[in-house]
Amino acid sequence: MKRFIPLALLLLLCIPLRGEKKKEIQRPVVPVPEVVPQIIPIETDHTQLILRPTPKGLLETLYYGARIGEPQVFLKQYRGRGSRSGAGPLAFPVAGGITPPDAALSVAYADGSCNTELYYTGHTQTQDEAGVVTTVISLKDYVTLLEVRLVYEAYRQEDVIAVHTEIRNGGKKAVTLQEYASAALLLSAERYLLTSFHGDWAKEMQMERTLLPYGRHTIESRNGTQATQPANPAFLLSLDTDRFSETEGRVIAGALEWSGNFSLRFTRDPSGDLTVIGGIHAAAAAYPLKPGEVFETPRMLQTFSNAGAGQASRNLHRWARKWNIYRAPDINPTLLNSWEGAYFQFNTQTLLGMIDDAAGMGLELFVLDDGWFGTKYPRNNSRQGLGDWEVNAEKLPEGIDSLASYAHGKGLKFGIWIEPEMVSPRSRLAEEHPDWVVRSAGREIPESRNQWVLDLSNPAVQDFVFGVFARTMALSDKIDYVKWDCNRPVYSFGSDYLGTQQTRFYVAYVQGFYKIVRRIRERYPDVILQCCASGGARVDYGALRYFNEVWTSDNTDALERVRIQYGTGLIYPACVQGSHVSAVPNHQTGNVTPLKFRLDVAAAGRLGMELQPRNLTEAEQALCRRCIESYKQYRDIVFAGDLYRLASPYEGDACALLFVSEDRSRAVLFSYSLGFRSRAMRDRTVRLQGLDAARHYRVRELNTDKSCWWGDGGIYEADYLMGNGMDLKQYKMYDSAIFLLEAQP
Ligand code: GLA
Repeated sequence: MKRFIPLALLLLLCIPLRGEKKKEIQRPVVPVPEVVPQIIPIETDHTQLILRPTPKGLLETLYYGARIGEPQVFLKQYRGRGSRSGAGPLAFPVAGGITPPDAALSVAYADGSCNTELYYTGHTQTQDEAGVVTTVISLKDYVTLLEVRLVYEAYRQEDVIAVHTEIRNGGKKAVTLQEYASAALLLSAERYLLTSFHGDWAKEMQMERTLLPYGRHTIESRNGTQATQPANPAFLLSLDTDRFSETEGRVIAGALEWSGNFSLRFTRDPSGDLTVIGGIHAAAAAYPLKPGEVFETPRMLQTFSNAGAGQASRNLHRWARKWNIYRAPDINPTLLNSWEGAYFQFNTQTLLGMIDDAAGMGLELFVLDDGWFGTKYPRNNSRQGLGDWEVNAEKLPEGIDSLASYAHGKGLKFGIWIEPEMVSPRSRLAEEHPDWVVRSAGREIPESRNQWVLDLSNPAVQDFVFGVFARTMALSDKIDYVKWDCNRPVYSFGSDYLGTQQTRFYVAYVQGFYKIVRRIRERYPDVILQCCASGGARVDYGALRYFNEVWTSDNTDALERVRIQYGTGLIYPACVQGSHVSAVPNHQTGNVTPLKFRLDVAAAGRLGMELQPRNLTEAEQALCRRCIESYKQYRDIVFAGDLYRLASPYEGDACALLFVSEDRSRAVLFSYSLGFRSRAMRDRTVRLQGLDAARHYRVRELNTDKSCWWGDGGIYEADYLMGNGMDLKQYKMYDSAIFLLEAQP
């Protein structure tokens, strides 16, 4: 009896349990069709990315790296051993199904569920006239009817693959995208050395190295407008090493084409494999998608090199010059910008004098920076006037056209500064259109640099901003260049226009910005556009599709610039880097550097000047003339050549950069000394790379009468220059040299 009671109780307890379980099992499961496994190769001249759907329809990444040849061999490879899914790493991990280490896509459905499972339904591969092969892989969730298209564009010659995703709500109810990254990169190595770029105002693109730990490492920006200030949406990954090498080993480089909040997440799972997920930052940006609506992510670029970071950078540079940067590698003109030379204190006479001096030094463009506009609230300081883009007639009674005509008369192009996304609280625009300002109901609007941001998600504001551009261009038919600035971030936001859909803001802002600049390009295809955001706070491959160049940094101290330009050059080519010679003591750092050093540093990008030339002595003006003239002889190599980084300012007190023309007939070497340690220092040896080993080169130092190399003017075998190298006498801090190399017939 004692035994009987508990047994009966147990049976009684089990009845409802078993009943429930039965109910669960009986829920109908939506069938997923079987798939015939096949290889999907995405190929460039030297790399292959191999994907494959499993029989269950899961899309796995089998390989990314140097070409193996016939991709069918991968059918034999079985990556899924021991994995929870029975598949290899998923090409596009989503939140749902088997748990991936990180999810590129996460969706909340109308019934409250958050489970997405994507299965392969088919793919296409097409080649366009330019030779770009586009692979579109379609995936579907059979329960929620969400559809995803993964789009891979393979740029064969440059070894770059651009990946983006199109997400379609195929269901009958609205859904919310909680995560909507562009791409996932799955890698398998013993070690991963990450190179990334953090920054701040006047301190952009500071290179940083991290040996990735297990777990997650994130690079991100939530600055809104000035997205690339705290970090740049780009990286290099050296595989199987903890040592960064320019010339050896497997390196993957990646970059996101997006000018807004982003995240790049590097997750090393317990097996040691790495998932890299890159895309728009979804924080405060859950994105609602109506039935039938499609969301298209920006593109994530990836390239692979078997020969170190140098080749990975060159792949990106070559790709960008051919396919991305607006009109690259057209030569953008040398210029004098009025900002650091005059700030807000100028009148017509000041500017005419600057134009005269710019012409006298052989510069090709004069740019009138901030301070030319505002009538009710004249822009005589940074506290007012943004938004009121009419000429300040008190300052410039003859108007813009007369200045532009004067510049043209002197053989110079003419450029002008605008900051059309912004508005000063003290402006007519803010008085007339408070509803256009980014603001949150019931709260004070935060100011930064005494200004507010206009709500670019609003089509009326987009029209206004386009109108600002058009009206500025109409001030004269001789405006050749516009510097587009953006001097504050958006940390907190609110849009009168978006109503209850506030979380669309961050995405809608960037889309609005792109709509405007696209429209500008349709109407003004020839104007040279500089992308500036308090210096380099908007340096990304999304903006560069519309802009010819960037203002690399407000920090014009040549010593700091060496590091900033070096970091920028790891991802972006020199042809976009605006680089100016400014006065000493430097206005940002107080540092005093020799004029020759400043000129030689500026010459490794698009050279310009940003000072009051009247403050230069005759001898200094003569040196500027000489350097600018010689720059014109070799700048085509800086603009269109391949960059070899020979010595890093992050690793020692020297920096050396070599640009080699595509046909390897010419090259230009920049060498900078950044420190002085001792009188007993040995000569600095710079070993060149990338020359044509079969050729001889004449080597000439430019802009000096006393070369720092004993071999100056001679002709040498490429092997000697690359093997033995050039032992330069550059001992003192700020010694600098530029050598031109010309292959002999
Ligand atoms: C920003 C830019 C500068 C200059 C000023 C003008 O800081 O980066 O180059 O144009 O604005 O206000």
